[in-house]
Order: sequence, then C-alpha cells, then structure tokens
Amino acid sequence: MRIFMFLIFITWLLSACTESTPQKQVKLTKKNIESTSVEEEFSVDQLRAIDDLMSSTPTDKINAVNAESTYKTYCGLCHGQKGEMSINGAKILMDTNTSLAERVAQIYYGKGTMTPFKGTLKDEQIIAVAQYIDELKK
Ligand code: HEC
Repeated sequence: MRIFMFLIFITWLLSACTESTPQKQVKLTKKNIESTSVEEEFSVDQLRAIDDLMSSTPTDKINAVNAESTYKTYCGLCHGQKGEMSINGAKILMDTNTSLAERVAQIYYGKGTMTPFKGTLKDEQIIAVAQYIDELKK
C-alpha cells in the first residue's frame, strides 16, 4: 500500500513538473515583448505616416492645445497625473526614453492595453500631449 501511495505521489510530482514548464516559457516570452522598444513594434509604414502627421500639423494649432488638461483627462487614469503611475502595465512616463515620434505613434495607434487615440483626439492634441511628456520628465 505504501509503495502504491508513493507511486501516485511520483506520478503527481511528474505531472506537476511538466505542467509548470510551459508556464515558465510564456512568462519569459511576455518579458521579452515588454522589453522591446516602441520602434520595433510599429511598422515602417506606420512610422512614416506619423512623420507626415507631424510635419503637416501647423505649430500654432499644436501650441493652442491645453496639453496639460488633455493629459490629465485622457492619460492620467493609467499613467498618473504626473506620469508617475503604472496601472495595468502602463509605462512610467516621467522615466520614458522614447522619442517624440515614438510617443506620437504610441498615442495614435495604441499598444497592449493602451487604446489608440486616433479619432478620439485631434492630431494636434496627440502631438501636444506627446510633447507634454517632456514636462513630466523634468
Ligand atoms: C488604459 C490605460 C492607458 C491610458 C488611458 C493611456 N495609456 Fe499610455 N500606456 C498604457 C500602457 C499599458 C502602455 C504600455 C504599452 C506596451 O508597451 O505594451 C502605455 C505606454 C505609453 C507610452 C510609451 C512609453 C514607453 O516608454 O514605451 C506613451 C508615450 C504613452 N503610453 C502615452 C500616453 C498618453 C499621452 C496617453 C493619453 C493620451 C495615454 N498614454 C493613455 C496605458 C494607457
């Protein structure tokens, strides 16, 4: 009887081990994805479209946007009012090292649990808020 129990234990142990292996792999892959930079995640076409968007939006229109209040209304929920928070995997914006174009792409197209703001915010609002992140870094 004891041997029987022992065998059951061994079988359980083996199945527990094999089950945990794929879980580990998933975790690793997820970490790899998280550590890749924004550049690698947007296509060349998308980044080109962002370039066009930035050069075709007049500076006075961008300057007319109240970037701070736009940020607080649309972004603070996940990123914190000062860019200090990380809700649902959001990046700490006061520490971000992304370029302006990468930020505009991130806001325009969204990524992960961050929804795209294309359509919700006007182009000049997206650019103004992307610039405003530089204020958070100070
Ligand atoms: C629903 C929550 C949510 C809201 C609202 C949100 N974000 Fe995000 N944001 C995220 C998440 C999650 C990520 C990380 C995405 C990823 O890399 O998978 C992120 C990443 C970013 C990044 C990239 C930072 C880096 O270092 O890679 C920028 C820039 C950014 N957000 C700006 C904004 C701005 C500006 C707004 C408002 C217009 C905003 N976000 C609104 C959740 C949100």
